[in-house]
Amino acid sequence: MNKFNNRRVFITGAARGIGFSCAQSFYEEGAELVLIDLPKLEETNLETYFPERMTYLQANVTRKEDLSLIKKEMQKGVSVLVNNAGITKDATLLKMTEEAWDQVIDVNLKSVFLLSQMAAAEMKEKQEGVILNAASVVAHYGNFGQSNYVATKAGVIGMTKTMARELGRYGIRVNAVAPGFIATPMVDTMPEKVIDMIREKTPLNRMGKPEDIAKAYRYLASDDASFITGTCLNVDGGVSI
Ligand SMILES: NC(=O)c1ccc[n+]([C@@H]2O[C@H](COP(=O)([O-])OP(=O)(O)OC[C@H]3O[C@@H](n4cnc5c(N)ncnc54)[C@H](O)[C@@H]3O)[C@@H](O)[C@H]2O)c1
Repeated sequence: MNKFNNRRVFITGAARGIGFSCAQSFYEEGAELVLIDLPKLEETNLETYFPERMTYLQANVTRKEDLSLIKKEMQKGVSVLVNNAGITKDATLLKMTEEAWDQVIDVNLKSVFLLSQMAAAEMKEKQEGVILNAASVVAHYGNFGQSNYVATKAGVIGMTKTMARELGRYGIRVNAVAPGFIATPMVDTMPEKVIDMIREKTPLNRMGKPEDIAKAYRYLASDDASFITGTCLNVDGGVSI
């Protein structure tokens, strides 16, 4: 039986990387997808991968006009929201510009607040729903050159716990996933030396794959996780031990 038949699953940042893999994972289980990503990325023709049960919203999760587009779509039903979109703008604290700080906060943190608020309002009506947020292992121990990014990911974990406390009474579960280092375009820019170092520090001795994270989201969204809320699941090959 398909676990997500007739469930509308919204995924932000779905055109590539973890978000794309996540879309594939939910699609396999019968979900109706609403995929959200920036208006670009012709390289991923989403209709080829998802010929049915898929709506593509070309939207920037930080733009007011685009958010109202997402809201309209949510009003038709939202079972699961995966707040996956995220960016990095790395610099050490002494060199970090206010612009780099604001951009990362807006995409990684503020959009989680805005989209979750919109989704929760709809889910409350139905007395069910699942919100999943993208954290990162770096939220636990910091990362050189990423004060903005780490602030957002630590913030996401705190927000997840708070939303879980507030929304549990409406049958809404809220969880986060903290990926370790996953081979996606986001980490493509890392020097080979750093990647080798990460591998050495990872007990399972490999980089993660987008599917590793997608499966965690799918599990947390499913009824198999019906008593799990407010948690942050590390999916990191043990790197955060
Ligand atoms: N790759 C990793 O190692 C890793 C580790 C920990 C956490 N994460 C988190 O997982 C999530 C996905 O990471 P990824 O590696 O797949 O990233 P990615 O860069 O490969 O993909 C991110 C997607 O988000 C989209 N996006 C960016 N800004 C957006 C906006 N304003 N509106 C709509 N869409 C937007 C991009 O277009 C892109 O398609 C992010 O939140 C990231 O912080 C990734």
